[in-house]
Amino acid sequence: MHPILQLQNWLREEKDSGASLAQHAVLSTLGREGTPHARLVAIRDVEQEGLVFFTQSGTRKVAEIQQCPAVSLTFWFERFAREVIVEGECHLLSKAENAAYWQSYPKWAQLRFLSYAATSSQTIPDKRILEDKKIQLEKEYRQGEIPLSPHYCGCVVKPKRFVFYSFRTDALSDVIEYRLSSSQGYTWARLSP
Ligand SMILES: Cc1cc2nc3c(=O)[nH]c(=O)nc-3n(C[C@H](O)[C@H](O)[C@H](O)COP(=O)(O)O)c2cc1C
Repeated sequence: MHPILQLQNWLREEKDSGASLAQHAVLSTLGREGTPHARLVAIRDVEQEGLVFFTQSGTRKVAEIQQCPAVSLTFWFERFAREVIVEGECHLLSKAENAAYWQSYPKWAQLRFLSYAATSSQTIPDKRILEDKKIQLEKEYRQGEIPLSPHYCGCVVKPKRFVFYSFRTDALSDVIEYRLSSSQGYTWARLSP
């Protein structure tokens, strides 16, 4: 089985068991001088072409991806005590790709993004500043479409390695690794827990 199908199956099982934020993963990147940094992102697409998430263009994660495209995504499926690690290269989506995703967003999500962008992780003296910006944007865009934010930034992770870890206490845990090879597609192996 292609490892992305296995990830899709585990996501489905986790969601079906009631986990509302299953499609989130910890994105790890490397900064200058090899400083690691990890944070949660919502994964928009899980497809053979890659795993897609969105952020603001001025964030630390985007700067670090541009410096060093090697990243990992770690999913934690609490209901089944499962972990999936995806390692690969991350690239920014084109403007046309961003525009297509932006148009598929509901208006409330576009307005929320515009209320924050481009200030993610900057110091703000008061939350009221963002709330006021949101109110002003709601008035401005009461009618008509909201144009693509220049700060809307999609990223795609092209996997090279997957690890599927099933943690068990009634028996020994199962760990399966998939590696992408240029000649054979994905090959898999059992790893010791
Ligand atoms: C549940 C949850 C979902 C999040 N989803 C995203 C996301 O999809 N994209 C994003 O840029 N940040 C998301 N964040 C915020 C990031 O975890 C992070 O704190 C922020 O983007 C700043 O990251 P950076 O400075 O390392 O780039 C989310 C946080 C939480 C708690």
